[in-house]
Amino acid sequence: PADELDRRIRTARQTLGSRVTILGHAYQRDEIVQYADFVGDSFQLAQQSQQHPEAEFVVFCGVHFMAETADLLTTDDQPVILPNLAAGCSMADMADIDAVQACWEQLEAVYGTEPDADGRVPVIPVTYMNSAANLKGFCGEHGGIVCTSSNAREVLEWAFERGQRVLFFPDQHLGRNTAKAMGVDVADMPLWDPRKPRGGNSEESLRDARVVLWRGWCSVHQRFTVDQIAQARAKNPDVRVIVHPECPMEVVDAADEAGSTRYIQLAIDAAQPGEAFAVGTEINMVRRLADTRPDLTIECLDPVVCPCSTMYRIHPAYLAWVLESLVEGRVVNQVSVDPVVAGHARTAVERMLAVGA
Ligand code: 13P
Ligand code: SF4
Repeated sequence: PADELDRRIRTARQTLGSRVTILGHAYQRDEIVQYADFVGDSFQLAQQSQQHPEAEFVVFCGVHFMAETADLLTTDDQPVILPNLAAGCSMADMADIDAVQACWEQLEAVYGTEPDADGRVPVIPVTYMNSAANLKGFCGEHGGIVCTSSNAREVLEWAFERGQRVLFFPDQHLGRNTAKAMGVDVADMPLWDPRKPRGGNSEESLRDARVVLWRGWCSVHQRFTVDQIAQARAKNPDVRVIVHPECPMEVVDAADEAGSTRYIQLAIDAAQPGEAFAVGTEINMVRRLADTRPDLTIECLDPVVCPCSTMYRIHPAYLAWVLESLVEGRVVNQVSVDPVVAGHARTAVERMLAVGA
């Protein structure tokens, strides 16, 4: 029962005291967020994981790639624990190292490997934070970088200073929406389908490419539609429509604003009483925003509830189990990045942290 779990979590938490830091992503359910020492987006949580050297353990209430990133950034003797190891991300699973390697070789065959007269290499690989650690390692090793939704533009600027073009994976939408907002022609962003030779593109179309987009997407954000925006506006012509940049391009184009988890949070924080919002992002986050600002009207763009099913896998029962295990001296569900890839992966993440958000 919920009250029993609550009691057990609080007791274990109290026993552990400052020995444990609990980090929670903004898409976690309230039953989890209430125990977090810090709640934020993936960039903020990456920063936070560096800021608690005093804690013996970091319990990460989010998804697997975020816990891996925390492991790269915490000290060597600071285990990172993911309460449920099955909390993955379907988008992150859409790119794997073999497919990215194969893509890279095919791009090298088209572009060669020599820098241009300005010293810019043919391609800079950029991976969204939502990717396995070995893909971050790939980027670190090949002069590339990681981005989150809150710094994708700054990261692409970084990449274009160093490269003639970018390979962006795994989220096509974040890549397309961000590059388009920077003035890159959508026609110069071929989509790379890893199941097809040259990603399903002609050599000619790849030659003009500025951004090669991986065929990945978020099952939650891909649900939002232009029709839902029209319905929200029909209900209230003054509604402010804000969507996450993982939404498809036509949805971002139809919205009033597009921005990361943090952008949405800041927009709501700064809103004037009485304003109305239709928000295109994960439902737990939207509900929490609505609860914290009862003076605003905040609704999810999708009337059918759309939680991130993998974020939802962090249930209080798992949190109770990992905390009680720590009390008993056992570390369970530790997430540790293979040392073979950790060095390069850390390089790519640290480049991103240096760019900022
Ligand atoms: P943020 O980078 O905004 O935290 O988003 C992570 C994510 O998984 C969004 O779907
Ligand atoms: Fe992955 Fe989408 Fe869930 Fe974010 S909301 S963790 S991208 S499935």
